[in-house]
Amino acid sequence: MKHLIAPSVLAADFTNLAKDLEMVSNSEADWLHVDIMDGRFVPNISFGMNIVKAMKSVCTKPLDVHLMIVEPEKYIEEFREAGADVITVHYEACPHLHRTIQQIKATGAKAGVALNPHTPVSLLEDVLEDLDMVCIMSVNPGYGGQKFIYQTIPKVKKLAEMIMERNLKTIIEIDGGVGLQNAEALLKAGARVLVAGSAVFKAENPSDVISRMKRIGADTMSV
Ligand code: DX5
Ligand code: ZN
Repeated sequence: MKHLIAPSVLAADFTNLAKDLEMVSNSEADWLHVDIMDGRFVPNISFGMNIVKAMKSVCTKPLDVHLMIVEPEKYIEEFREAGADVITVHYEACPHLHRTIQQIKATGAKAGVALNPHTPVSLLEDVLEDLDMVCIMSVNPGYGGQKFIYQTIPKVKKLAEMIMERNLKTIIEIDGGVGLQNAEALLKAGARVLVAGSAVFKAENPSDVISRMKRIGADTMSV
């Protein structure tokens, strides 16, 4: 199945968000990746549900909302109401992860769990079948424009094997330092959703980068 491209709005021009969102809407992008940071789970603060709601009103692509916040269970319904189509919480922020996943699904959104670079994929064994998506962080969350952590590739392979062994439909998303230079290797390892912030928005021709990422590895995917 064809992979998905999710430009990360964190790298967009916030003084002219409507223009960048229009570009995403008219591009070959599949989703818009929306990073929510609270200054507690991660050192940085981004924006909240009012901005998500505003983004939803001008972007025609599904919103892939990545919650880098503590106690995400307090805000899941609000982000869903603001327009989130996929809601991803961090493993490291959820002491009752199984319950939080069910809470996301009850809103009608797709449920994802993100893993920080130090968190092994084996910790998801007992919830994997409940998940629509696993987001493997290939940088430490908190900022755009960081260097890709290369150990992510074997990690994606391992998770892809776990998913295949169990015959599940869970998809793998990669977030952080992704661009044209590593997209093919990630797709080969088993990734299905490529998140790209700087690689898209800092490019001279963002929609061309999206198209090129979309065309990469079309027939080389293992899952
Ligand atoms: C990092 C965020 C990413 C970020 C990716 O904490 O979760 O989604 O926006 O940005 P790039 O592609 O620039 O690494
Ligand atoms: Zn993200």
